[in-house]
Amino acid sequence: MPRIALIPGDGIGTEVVPQARRVLEAVARVEGLRFEFVEWDLGAERYLRDGVTITDAEFESLEHDFDAILLGAMGDPRVPGNEHARDILLGLRFRLDLYVNFRPCVLLAPDLCPLKRVKVPVRLEIFRENTEGSYVGMGGVFKKGTPHEVAVEEDVNTRVGVERIVRAAFEFARAKGRPRVTLVDKANAMRHAGGLWRRVFAEVGDGFPELERDAQYVDAMAMELVRRPERYAVLVTSNLFGDIISDLAAELTGGLGLAPSANLHPGRYAMFEPVHGSAPDIAGKGKANPLGAVRCVALLLDHFGHAAAAERVERAVAAAIAGGRTTPDLGGSLSTESVGEWLADRVGGEIADENGTRT
Ligand code: NAI
Ligand code: MG
Repeated sequence: MPRIALIPGDGIGTEVVPQARRVLEAVARVEGLRFEFVEWDLGAERYLRDGVTITDAEFESLEHDFDAILLGAMGDPRVPGNEHARDILLGLRFRLDLYVNFRPCVLLAPDLCPLKRVKVPVRLEIFRENTEGSYVGMGGVFKKGTPHEVAVEEDVNTRVGVERIVRAAFEFARAKGRPRVTLVDKANAMRHAGGLWRRVFAEVGDGFPELERDAQYVDAMAMELVRRPERYAVLVTSNLFGDIISDLAAELTGGLGLAPSANLHPGRYAMFEPVHGSAPDIAGKGKANPLGAVRCVALLLDHFGHAAAAERVERAVAAAIAGGRTTPDLGGSLSTESVGEWLADRVGGEIADENGTRT
């Protein structure tokens, strides 16, 4: 039985994670699946209480005693430096070597897309490298504070690092029957890193002859995503470009409240989190949209090999949107908890679908 660590964290994280758990428990009941949950007290509250962000023993336990983490959000105005979030989130990504940041951006209804001519289906599945690139903190400043100040931020691309994320994208496309994998880079201007990514992409791609592949410069990709998002399927890219492109893709498919993500070391570990932050402006008001967190449940189920159960959750989310059973950010009038309750009933078969069948 998979053991799931629940880390609600801060702000609306503490409101959406219980709803995600409720939906997971409901779908597990009807599908005959079992999960064990342990709730973790990590976040600003704990840090402010005892000055500890996360201990080595806690990292060890999360790594060895659990199979996956479901996290809400980290960030609290009372911790302006955000050091607890950095220690916990980045700590987990690096310690667990979660090298895939998987961000599926799936349009569930055309009116969720700000572009007026776009219709469903749009399904952009982004594989963002999560452990290297420009985010490793290598570099420095020289002559700081003078007119001649120099700031260097290194962009680290290792053969191993590039190969494993590219392979993860191709393997996913094969397993899911997606038509195409697109590499996103800036190989015309950043020739050293771009050269490595292109060579590796071609070599790995040769092992997947049934899949189409192409490459786009990141600036052209931004344009393409607005011009014809429906053409693209699986995208693979570096940490920096993935950060940017995935925000664009998320906004094209319904925005922050709907976007889930997974941090993965395929075959070893997974941490799921909605893309949004702790939203202090609406925290505690029961207005937080739980759908991003609930879609993390679909990713979690899929990760453990329960594709049908994952589908059931995605269908319920689509039905909630179609029926206007949403929080105010999506135009509805339900509370976080009422949306969670409706979804749990729906996946649990207590609410019939539009054909009158209980699924
Ligand atoms: P945010 O995502 O928390 O909020 C941005 C805007 O979107 C706010 O107006 C908020 O009310 C709204 N929003 C976000 N999620 C929503 C939801 N589920 N339902 C309805 N409305 C929603 O980003 P912001 O304001 O930049 O950051 C707030 C805090 O969260 C900061 O401390 C930041 O560091 C942290 N943060 C944490 C992340 C994480 O844990 N992975 C990611 C992004 C931000
Ligand atoms: Mg980002």
